[in-house]
Amino acid sequence: MTIQIKEQTIKTLERMKEKSITLRFLAEPVNVNFGGKVHGGSVMKWIDQAGYACAANWCGGYAVTVYVGGIRFFKPMLIGDLVELRATLIHTGNSSMHISVDVFSKSPQADDWVRNTHCIIIFVSIDKDGKPTAVPVFAPETDEEKEMEQYAIRLMELRKGIEDEMEEYCK
Ligand SMILES: CC(C)(COP(=O)(O)OP(=O)(O)OC[C@H]1O[C@@H](n2cnc3c(N)ncnc32)[C@H](O)[C@@H]1OP(=O)(O)O)[C@@H](O)C(=O)NCCC(=O)NCCS
Repeated sequence: MTIQIKEQTIKTLERMKEKSITLRFLAEPVNVNFGGKVHGGSVMKWIDQAGYACAANWCGGYAVTVYVGGIRFFKPMLIGDLVELRATLIHTGNSSMHISVDVFSKSPQADDWVRNTHCIIIFVSIDKDGKPTAVPVFAPETDEEKEMEQYAIRLMELRKGIEDEMEEYCK
C-alpha cells in the first residue's frame, strides 16, 4: 500500500513539458509603424514572448533571452491581420533552450497564411540567484525534430565566426 502511494506521488510530480506553443491574436492599431503597417519592434516583442512561454514551460522556471538570430522580415503585416507565432523547442544545451519561432499572418477573412518571418531565439534557464541552471534534455523523436535539432547545431557553428568578430567590437 505504501509503495503504491509513493509511485502515485512520483507520477504527479512529473510535469508535462510542451515542446511547442502557438500564440494567435489580432494586430492592433497600437502596433502601427510610421508607414501604416505593423511595427517590426512589435513583431520582435511577440517573438520574445512566444519564445519565453515555450522556454519557461520546458524548464519549469524563469528564463532570460541570451540570443536572437537572423530575423528577416519577408513580408509586411497589416493592422487588423490575424497573427500566429509558432514557437518550438529544437535543441537544449546544459542551461540553454534553442527555440525556432515562425511568424505568420493573414486577413481574418482569408484562408491562407503568409510567412512573415522566422528566427531562432535562445533562452537560458536562471535559478533564484540569477545563475544559469540545467534544463531537462530535449531528445528529438520524429524525423522533423531530428532535422530541426541538426539545423540548430549547424547555426551554432556558423555563428561562431560572427560572435568572434562582434566580440572584437564589444571589447
Ligand atoms: C544569460 C546569462 C545569464 C548567461 O550568463 P553567462 O555568464 O554568459 O553564462 P554562461 O557563459 O555560463 O552561458 C550560459 C549559457 O548561455 C549560452 N550562451 C552564452 N552566450 C551565448 C550566445 N551569444 N549565443 C547563444 N548562447 C549563448 C551558453 O552557451 C550557455 O549555454 P549552455 O549552458 O546550454 O551551454 C547572462 O549573459 C545574462 O544575464 N544576460 C542578460 C539576459 C537578459 O537580460 N536578457 C533580456 C533581454 S535584453
